[in-house]
Amino acid sequence: MSQPLFRTPKGTHDVLPEDHQYMTYIKKAVRHRARQAGYRRIDTPMFENRGIFDRGIGEHTDVVEKELYLVKAARKEGEDDDNFALRPELTAGICRSYIEHGMQQLPQPVELYEIGPCFRHDRPQKGRFRQFHQFDFEIIGLKDPSLDAQLIYTAAKVLSDLKILDRLTLQINNIGTSEHRKAFTQALQDFFIDKERHLPDLDRSRLQTNPLRLLDSKEEDTQILLKGAPKLEQFLDDDSKKYHETVLEYLDALGLPTQANAGLVRGLDYYNQTVFEFWDKSTGAQNAVGGGGRYDGLLELLGGSPTPGVGCAFGMERVIWQMKEAGVQAPNKDHVDVFVAQLGPEAKKACLLLITELREQGVHTLGALGEASLKSQMRMADKFQARYTLLLGKMEAKEGTIILRDMAAGKQKQIKFEEAIPTVIKLLGKGTLDRYEMNDHFEDTDHD
Ligand code: HAM
Repeated sequence: MSQPLFRTPKGTHDVLPEDHQYMTYIKKAVRHRARQAGYRRIDTPMFENRGIFDRGIGEHTDVVEKELYLVKAARKEGEDDDNFALRPELTAGICRSYIEHGMQQLPQPVELYEIGPCFRHDRPQKGRFRQFHQFDFEIIGLKDPSLDAQLIYTAAKVLSDLKILDRLTLQINNIGTSEHRKAFTQALQDFFIDKERHLPDLDRSRLQTNPLRLLDSKEEDTQILLKGAPKLEQFLDDDSKKYHETVLEYLDALGLPTQANAGLVRGLDYYNQTVFEFWDKSTGAQNAVGGGGRYDGLLELLGGSPTPGVGCAFGMERVIWQMKEAGVQAPNKDHVDVFVAQLGPEAKKACLLLITELREQGVHTLGALGEASLKSQMRMADKFQARYTLLLGKMEAKEGTIILRDMAAGKQKQIKFEEAIPTVIKLLGKGTLDRYEMNDHFEDTDHD
């Protein structure tokens, strides 16, 4: 086989049909749970003014400082043409959209969900890609611990529908307000003044730019030093503590077990109060399947009026990996019911119409309308694993008959041509037909 001239860029991958089965299955679960809970679908652009990421996610976060892909137009037309970035996540864009479209005029809270690709110039490794897909839920415009609990519950229901919830733990923390964090980070920096040289390089620079990230550092030296350091919870006020307790109480009432994790801070700056992540029980933090939290200051940072929000997102590739590990099979709807084989110009025309009508009736039908011999067409039917083959040779075309072959049983019979469709439908069973009408059921089909 010749070497391909081009390959997917490093850290990206084609979503091949086999994986689309999983993608479709996940999207279905997300849409279903989102609809039940009143979320409405939104799609924001894949690239945005980079300012929303600088301001929203934070200039000194890894996601913005190191992982942002900048977008440049080949031919510059306006001021902003050099100022775009591929979205590394969906929250900032959704909040930008909420403000831009005056969604504060709608009944609050506004519940939105989005599914789509995100881009981070990360070091590719297992479960870490440069283009990946997220599904994301946001509740904007109202603050109450019950909303945090409801959001987490909806997400957990999706994971449970996909049969991976019991492989995960729900890690949860409260990181207080930005004032609490400011006081805490100052205390943390003071604590490290004479210990800085013992920190690994990356954490030493984080101590200056984003000290909170030290808490979830994977470096052993840092974790040992942190044992004697001030704790974030010492800086939280009573309101935050009460808020956290109430969220935990509600989650408990909803039957969702949680694991308190004082080191959980999340990698994006916009969070306050509740933060959480779903971790693999065996690998822990390394590949969080999803996470989120409250972001009551984000909309104001993006130019809106003060508006609270809470949300979360999940990496679809990581969800798929979990499903495969758990042995969950996504239903495959790409099977071939009928293969139509033909020989001769007359048969060819009749088969063209037969194929079209079978498809119209909801039968997955393939037909080789080339000039291949009947034998090689039968081989094709075999390769496509068709359940039945309809065979129209010159003779049958003249007689008004057709041969129906059951591929698994290896048996065939001659039937009247006009009976081909009803016979096939009867054999397949009406319930298996793949039909939809432009009515309510359309919602349930596999469009994106
Ligand atoms: P995040 O934790 O940065 O949060 O990303 C959410 C999920 O996206 C991760 O748990 C992971 O499954 C997946 N993910 C992130 N980076 C990669 C990557 N390089 N390769 C594969 N999967 C990845 C957010 O993005 C927030 N916007 C979540 C949120 C919504 N907070 C409030 N609302």
